[in-house]
Amino acid sequence: MGIMDRLLIHLAIALLARKAALTTSLAASGNRVATAQNARCTRGSRASLFRQNYAPSLARLFSYHLDSHMRVLSGIQPTGRPHWGNFFGAIRQYIDLQTEHDGFYFIADLHALTTVRDAKTLRQNTLDAALDMLALGLDPEKATLFVQSRVPEVTELTWLLMTGTPMGLLERCHAYKDKKEKGLKADAGLFTYPVLMAADILAYDSQLVPVGQDQVQHIEVCRDLAGTFNHEFGETFILPVAKTLEHGAKVPGTDGQKMSKSYNNTLPLFGDVKSIRKMIMRTTTDSRPMDDPKEPDDDHLFQLYRLFASPAEVETMAAMYRRGGFGYGDVKKAVADVSEQYFQAAREKRLELEKNLDYVSQTLDAGAAKARQVAAKVLDRARKACGLGA
Ligand code: ADP
Ligand code: TRP
Repeated sequence: MGIMDRLLIHLAIALLARKAALTTSLAASGNRVATAQNARCTRGSRASLFRQNYAPSLARLFSYHLDSHMRVLSGIQPTGRPHWGNFFGAIRQYIDLQTEHDGFYFIADLHALTTVRDAKTLRQNTLDAALDMLALGLDPEKATLFVQSRVPEVTELTWLLMTGTPMGLLERCHAYKDKKEKGLKADAGLFTYPVLMAADILAYDSQLVPVGQDQVQHIEVCRDLAGTFNHEFGETFILPVAKTLEHGAKVPGTDGQKMSKSYNNTLPLFGDVKSIRKMIMRTTTDSRPMDDPKEPDDDHLFQLYRLFASPAEVETMAAMYRRGGFGYGDVKKAVADVSEQYFQAAREKRLELEKNLDYVSQTLDAGAAKARQVAAKVLDRARKACGLGA
């Protein structure tokens, strides 16, 4: 096939993919790339959103498909010890993507300030998050690991974006909305949280943002804000695409609802193996008779088992569910065994890293220096575009 043929095929794929993304999400090899453009159009009609987002970024989209090496970016808040949901929904993707792509991963300490209001705890959590990511396989030779607040360009960019952010858009964002509906006090930090997140993404010309399902709304906001800025001031930002995983998108907790620190139903990645085992053994189960056949996909223990086990093991377990005549205690034991083994290497690596904190801090210094270089260029582009400075 000649180069022109290949270019034409890529162009056709890019056009079709873009068209699909405007109304729904794009499913690719077990992963979901969701732009969810079917969401709100904050300024003007869907047609104007189309003009803002579609036409100018066509050339870039074209290069997405030709270029297998993308800028992948994501952040994790240092708000407590990471759990299985964080790993399978977010961190695992970072690690998988670092080989083929240019990964920028950061610890979102500025975002954590909206909830962690103790300096010592925030500092410790930030270090812990770095140790966790490195132990789980983030490789600083391949990806850039840094702490969000070490790149002040991002906060300046937040202001530039804030001036074009409709209040109504932020009022609809779930973190603020949920708190307000519960009658809890919310501050401006929480309200404007998605704008800081948009700046995080846009500051590094990020193309792909791996996240758990609950963050997809924020990526849509980011696209909206970037689209508006580009529309008002000319092409400045790259519009990112969210990426979620099919099976890790919503990991259930020990009570069957979504695993989350806020629900107190988490299973931690690190920590004392015996107590984690106990937590698994306390997972809630239904009270149907043992002999009843059960649909595996409806059961949260099975969903947890599937995260770790090989396809053959998953098949055997599924057949056992459908046959009936088993006790949930055996499934819990299987989940405990398979998960313990899965995280064993990471646990050992973390212990090693804890003895080598100089290496960790050098890694974060180098990461911040690299991230700042990129962000400074993007900020300069944005400042010039909107008429700041000379
Ligand atoms: P938590 O809900 O425990 O506070 P965070 O909001 O800090 O977790 O989430 C950090 C990352 O992990 C996000 O990308 C989020 O989408 C992902 N994540 C959190 N919980 C889950 C879950 N149960 N299943 C899948 N992904 C999750
Ligand atoms: N809001 C994200 C979370 O709670 C963390 C985050 C901050 C992030 N900035 C980001 C994720 C930029 C992806 C891209 O999980």
